[in-house]
Amino acid sequence: MKNFTDARVVRLTTFGGPEVMELQEVQLPPPAAGEAQLRQTVIGFNYIDVYQRSGKYPLPLPTGLGHEAVGVVEKLGDGPQDLVIGDRVVYMNAGVGAYASHRNVDATKLVKLPSSVSDEDAAAVFFKAMTAQYLLRRTYRVEAGDIVLVHAAAGGVGQILCRWARGLGATVIGTAGSSEKCEIARSAGCEAAIDYSQPDWVDQVIASIGGRKARVVYDSVAKHTFMGSLDCAAPFGLVVLFGAASGPAPEIQPELLNKKGCLFLTRPSVFPHNADASVMRANAAEVFAAMDRGFVRASVAARLSLDEVSAVHRMAEARSTAGSIVMRP
Ligand SMILES: NC(=O)c1ccc[n+]([C@@H]2O[C@H](COP(=O)([O-])OP(=O)(O)OC[C@H]3O[C@@H](n4cnc5c(N)ncnc54)[C@H](OP(=O)(O)O)[C@@H]3O)[C@@H](O)[C@H]2O)c1
Repeated sequence: MKNFTDARVVRLTTFGGPEVMELQEVQLPPPAAGEAQLRQTVIGFNYIDVYQRSGKYPLPLPTGLGHEAVGVVEKLGDGPQDLVIGDRVVYMNAGVGAYASHRNVDATKLVKLPSSVSDEDAAAVFFKAMTAQYLLRRTYRVEAGDIVLVHAAAGGVGQILCRWARGLGATVIGTAGSSEKCEIARSAGCEAAIDYSQPDWVDQVIASIGGRKARVVYDSVAKHTFMGSLDCAAPFGLVVLFGAASGPAPEIQPELLNKKGCLFLTRPSVFPHNADASVMRANAAEVFAAMDRGFVRASVAARLSLDEVSAVHRMAEARSTAGSIVMRP
């Protein structure tokens, strides 16, 4: 078809295991008014992609998958004034469909990449660092001297949270699922890292901070960790539940927060924090500044191609990676 672009996209017609993702060849129409067409260079994997593929976070079917990619603007619809053909851009908040070779994206969702940031580094960290940004700067403003507990500290978001919180002057304690991953958490800035597969991990966390507790607990593991998170939080502390890698957190009565020390509990998401284009760009500028200062570093655990998307999801679910997974279209 005239002016259409040959593209390869991952489609989902049913929820299920990694095998339900299909790579299809499609004809992509020209960008509509307000859109830019990207030739994507690197696609980022995020754990939320697993929840959406499996149906844990259901999407209307059929659907694309993936939230994050880097690309070059190849075509522009009518409207966008601040982009030109050839711009290198990144996005994390344009709806699902990033698992693709080419994509039309609402131009207000695109952020221009500084020349200091490579395509691969951006795809490896942008979504995860934008998550760390709102968690460390907006959900709670971490300050020097705070004690911060980060679960799954060797993971993609986990490593960024630890290094950035340490850069802000906090004392960071991490947890992870093996001694090897605890070592990675320590090298990402944790003063102590505890293997939370051990039954007494809560006591070990508290002992590692000399009997004190955390001002803020960042918990993306949920089922396995949530009750322990309440026990690791200091009086008037904040528990931030922002994922459910091990399954949903148990339901609790609000009164329990009183008994555990007048705790605060929140369950936030990166998308509403970046729904406004100007706020999103300000948050992104903070991420790039944190990259320049070394508070955010890309840690690429695996590079695969879009043809291997099922293998990417298997690796993530097997917990066999520490850091980010990226795909080439
Ligand atoms: N709410 C938000 O705004 C938001 C935004 C982005 C990400 N997230 C959440 O943040 C978390 C981290 O995301 P990520 O992409 O950087 O992933 P990741 O941390 O690289 O991977 C998830 C990690 O969770 C741990 N885990 C614990 N129990 C698990 C289980 N039963 N199955 C699988 N993993 C388990 C594993 O680390 P160990 O082997 O060390 O246990 C695993 O490596 C995810 O839960 C994600 O959904 C939330």
